Formats: sequence, structure tokens, C-alpha cells
Amino acid sequence: MYESEFPLDDSVIYLNHAAVSPWPQRTATAVKRFADENVAFGSRNYPEWVNVESRLRKQLQLLVNADSSDEIALLKNTSEALSVVAYGLPWKPGDKVVCTSQEFPSNRVVWESLKKLGVITCPADLSQHDSPESAIIACLDNSTRLLSVSSVQYGTGLKLDLVRLGAACQERDILFCVDAIQSLGAEVFDVQACQADYVMADGHKWMLGPEGIALFYCRASSMDRLDLKQYGWHMLEDALNFDSPAWKTAGSARRFECGSPNMTGVHALHASLSLLHEVGMPAIEQLVHENTRFMVDFFAQRNDRYRLLTPTAAHQHAGIVTFRPLAESPASLFDMLTQEHVACALRGGGIRFSPHFYTPRKKLFKALEMLDG
Ligand SMILES: Cc1ncc(COP(=O)(O)O)c(C=O)c1O
Repeated sequence: MYESEFPLDDSVIYLNHAAVSPWPQRTATAVKRFADENVAFGSRNYPEWVNVESRLRKQLQLLVNADSSDEIALLKNTSEALSVVAYGLPWKPGDKVVCTSQEFPSNRVVWESLKKLGVITCPADLSQHDSPESAIIACLDNSTRLLSVSSVQYGTGLKLDLVRLGAACQERDILFCVDAIQSLGAEVFDVQACQADYVMADGHKWMLGPEGIALFYCRASSMDRLDLKQYGWHMLEDALNFDSPAWKTAGSARRFECGSPNMTGVHALHASLSLLHEVGMPAIEQLVHENTRFMVDFFAQRNDRYRLLTPTAAHQHAGIVTFRPLAESPASLFDMLTQEHVACALRGGGIRFSPHFYTPRKKLFKALEMLDG
């Protein structure tokens, strides 16, 4: 239905949105227009650029259901936002951070790096309990200051029940941090429902934007807990008053943005999110889940040839399906798929397919047919 927004080369079967997405046509148009404007007029229209930036904050506010766009900062990437949290909090020796054993390095390394301050990182083994959430909750104790999880795991595609985890944190007075890069743009996300304090996600996966511009949601009531480690003009309350010797940091999440914004990224992500909002996140979520169900059913019918590494229950997956061939190595099958122009990834011990809402069913079917060969 939205195929015209994605004029990918005919030869390409793009099942790699969990890595880096293709841009929608409108994003390319917005960036070209921005480039032409820069060439012809420089920054003459800077006030309009600032308008686009504030509309982007509003789009992101809606995407996560934040109370206000003052809770949205625009950072470089997910890792930077995780570092802002990790190095902003006041730690004591013996404090504990809980994450999971399946996290992408960005959501593990940053916590492990706090070892020098005496902070202990505890990766919950998700296979040890009746549910992954129970395994995580079992790790929360009196020393735990923060739980940091990916909403959807990059390797297995496991989706966690954030509402349950957020409630468990709330009961125990533990901060809740969510790396949402594998679900924002693919699924409805609600910071009110899950009671997250901090949420981060770069734009280049399911949000269909470019690399290098990321959402950092910081709950207003949890903002002052983060000490600032970077300073500059852009983060000040009165940012355009360059002459005043007195200054104070912004009351909003702009305090995390020290200098000039990534205006090219702002224009690109703004265009990409306009498409997501036009289609509507509930509709996108449904289409993503239909694609996932199609793939899960395919592998369930071929369990003599493939082992599915993604949970089959609908509430435990989003847009990622990872599988392992039983008769050959994932790497050799991956090479074959790549030669056939199927964009996918080797992750989590298998091959990861991640189509988006617009992925034509016939293309998805064509890729799956290759696995029957
Ligand atoms: C769960 C998860 N977090 C973080 C990242 C990387 O984040 P960034 O490059 O925005 O720092 C990835 C990339 O694959 C990811 O899958």
C-alpha cells in the first residue's frame, strides 16, 4: 500500500530494518531540499529550521506518549543517551544495575564500565524462570538502583512486557531505562503505561530515519537526578542570549544537548516520522505483526529444517524473526541470501529477518521460498 514511498531497487528484498532502514522517498526529498536551500541561501531560513526541530520533538513526544515535548532531547545515538544516564546518576559502591543476558553491547558495556565506581552489573539469565520478566524481576534487590532493558532484543527478537517491568521498578523505587531502538516505529510505545524514566532510540531502524539522530526521553521527575557532563550554549535556558555572563541550564531535556543541533538529521527524521504518523502506529504495529506471524508460521511448518530462535507467542515478539538452519551453518545460508539480494543479518546465532510494515508480502514470500530450495 505504501510501496510508492519506498522505491527500492526491484532486485532488493529488504528484510533488515533491525539494522539500518532504507529511507522513504519523502525523507530523501526533504534532505535534497535542505541541501539545495543551504547551497542557495545558507542559513537565511534558520528560524524555519528551528520550527522543524520543534515539530520533530512533538512527533517524538507523540510516538512515546510523553507528557510534554520538554521531556524530549535530540542526541546522536542510543549509546550516547545510555551514557548520559549512566554517567549522570550518582552511584555508590555496591549499587547494582540489572540488564539482561541478551542485550546489544551498548546496553551492557556502558553499565559494566561503571565497575570502576564500584557499580555491579547483573545480566538476568532470561531462560532461568517461567518467563523472561520473572527472571529479570528475580534479580531486583535492595541494592538495585536501575533496570535497563531493550524493549525488543536485537538477536532473538524477544519482546519484553515493559508494563510489568515498569510496575516492578516502581514498587521497589528502582529507575527504569528502556533501549527502544528495536521497537520505536514498529510498535505503539507508551512511557505512561510502562512508567519508564529514560527511553532512547536512534532514528535509523524502525523509525526509518538516518543514523546519528536519536530520541532521548527523560521523564520530568527523573531529570534532575542526572548530573550533566557536557556544557555549551544550546543547553541554556536563555540559549540565544550570548551576551549575558549569567546562565542557567534549561529546565527541559534540551539541557542534554550541549551545542548546535544536527539540522540535516532533524529534517530527515522529521520527514520519516511524518510518514509513520500518517499511517498511524496502531496500523503499523498490526502490519508488522502480520509479517512476523507469516514468518513464524513458515518456520513452524519446517521445524525439521529450521530452528526458530524468536518466541512464537504474539506478545513476545515484534518485527524481528531469527532462525537457524539445522543442516548447514547460518553463515553459508546468509551468503546465499545475500547473493540473491535478500538484505538480512547474522545475529544471535542465526539469520535475522526484519521486514517493516510496508514490505510487500510477495517479496517476503520470495525470500522464504529461497529457504525451501
Ligand atoms: C538494541 C540496540 N541498542 C542499540 C543499538 C545501537 O545503537 P546506536 O548505534 O544508536 O548507539 C542497536 C543497534 O543494532 C541495538 O540493536
